Amino acid sequence: MFTITVDTVPNGRIRKVDSSASVHELGEYDFSRLPDKPKNLNLDRQRSFDERSLTDLPSGLSGADAFCRAFDTADSVYSPSKRSGYNTPTSQFGHGLAFEPHPMIGEAWDSLRRSMVCFRGQPVGTIAALDNSEEKLNYDQVFVRDFVPSALAFLMNGEPEIVKNFILKTLRLQSWEKKVDQFHLGAGVMPASFKVLHDPIRNTETLIADFGESAIGRVAPVDSGFWWIILLRAYTKSTGDTSLAEMPECQKGIRLILSLCLSEGFDTFPTLLCADGCCMIDRRMGVYGYPIEIQALFFMALRSAMFLLKQDGPGKELIEQIVKRLHALSYHMRSYFWLDLKQLNDIYRYKTEEYSHTAVNKFNIMPDSLPEWVFDFMPLSGGYFVGNVGPSNMDFRWFCLGNCVAILSSLATKEQSTAIMDLIESRWGELVGEMPLKVCYPAIENHEWRIVTGCDPKNTRWSYHNAGSWPVLLWLLTAACIKTGRPQIARRAIELAETRLSRDGWPEYYDGKVGRFVGKQARKNQTWSIAGYLVAKMLLEDPSHLGMISIEEDKQLKPVLKRSSSWTF
Ligand code: GLC
Repeated sequence: MFTITVDTVPNGRIRKVDSSASVHELGEYDFSRLPDKPKNLNLDRQRSFDERSLTDLPSGLSGADAFCRAFDTADSVYSPSKRSGYNTPTSQFGHGLAFEPHPMIGEAWDSLRRSMVCFRGQPVGTIAALDNSEEKLNYDQVFVRDFVPSALAFLMNGEPEIVKNFILKTLRLQSWEKKVDQFHLGAGVMPASFKVLHDPIRNTETLIADFGESAIGRVAPVDSGFWWIILLRAYTKSTGDTSLAEMPECQKGIRLILSLCLSEGFDTFPTLLCADGCCMIDRRMGVYGYPIEIQALFFMALRSAMFLLKQDGPGKELIEQIVKRLHALSYHMRSYFWLDLKQLNDIYRYKTEEYSHTAVNKFNIMPDSLPEWVFDFMPLSGGYFVGNVGPSNMDFRWFCLGNCVAILSSLATKEQSTAIMDLIESRWGELVGEMPLKVCYPAIENHEWRIVTGCDPKNTRWSYHNAGSWPVLLWLLTAACIKTGRPQIARRAIELAETRLSRDGWPEYYDGKVGRFVGKQARKNQTWSIAGYLVAKMLLEDPSHLGMISIEEDKQLKPVLKRSSSWTF
């Protein structure tokens, strides 16, 4: 069922090249435009769980655990010096294409290994930034969202132990009592970050976690739980080890996270209502309400949970809830968050104050709220999911992470995915500029900046979360490019990053309209900038890795789209 092929890299170390567990998913995508197909693909694998339609409920996880590596504490004691940092993937296909190992790869692996955090002798995560020149704040912690690209790099390099340890440690943290002042948080909440405290006198180590109660602005890490589920799927896909996900503790962890989001309430929409700063943009930036990043991650976590949940008593009930929510969420997102030229023109001509279910302008969006820039930004062919949709509220800004995750999770239909890539190509100067990739576009300035950010000096125009450029986003772009059969776009972006990233000391973000300046308060040696680069390189080199982070379209979730994304004059 699951097979593994091994190959020998020049330093003689055997490493995993291809797990067929993640390959089959690629079958549906157009690889004809890739320079070459990866070798050793076993396409005869059984139907993947992601291919199951939503009406075709799971009957439990298959017992394919051929790769399950027993967790051996004695052997897994981490010693940074044991690892060279140069046991990195090199071009394994030998087809002489553009995959010569770049000198930055070795340096990046070294830095990534230096950022590893150990707890009682086991690696459990990577620190956010290894930068001693700036005030540490919480950059000396392991952030859940930041660890995702690190985890993918380790999985792609055949080193799943740290990922397994991370999943289990954060799961333990989830069961902690979580309190802000006198208020208890929901049981399912996953931490934003955690830290290992060393007591040199007693020679002990303890973990401390932050669920938002210490974070600047006391922001809720809504994305953490979703990333945790997505990572558990990536681990399972990549290793073929289903035993971790099948553990009752993990099953319970998934249920707790999702019951925070699926409980019935006052909502009139299937999207998830959130406070500002609940995701990668963890400061006040006008992303409260229904931000695209959370909706896309929510969708991907629901799809991942369908793959991971066992159909026993509580799992079965939850799966039924998930199926219903997926239908409603995909319909809502594909219909109301989607913007292309035709839809823009429709909004421009909207009537307002329509009452009853026959309303065309369902959210009572005022055409006057259309910002000037969006008319120039929208290409003839192309489109994207807008930042937010709520009552009389449409945030027209482009957000990179949400749109890439929409592609990877197949929240975006094939046509919408193509349209998003078309938009990135047509608006290259704005979205990529001199350093990939704008976290959002455009910046908010002047009076609007004062109102929306509360005069936040870290988020001035074209800086940090306010349309700064974040190298970490490279991995998401690359994965989306491969999924849509357009790896040349990713290659172009990576080449740009390679001109500066290492020279500038792997900054957290860049500032300026085209991303020319190292960010005002950017940390150096930012781990997810490093890991994001590595993942992007490894995905391009071996596109079969995509399976661990991409989910196929579910035919049952076909959109009822009246608009065509390829609509032109
Ligand atoms: C900043 C970023 C956040 C990240 C954290 C650690 O707060 O906004 O997304 O997780 O730094 O790198």
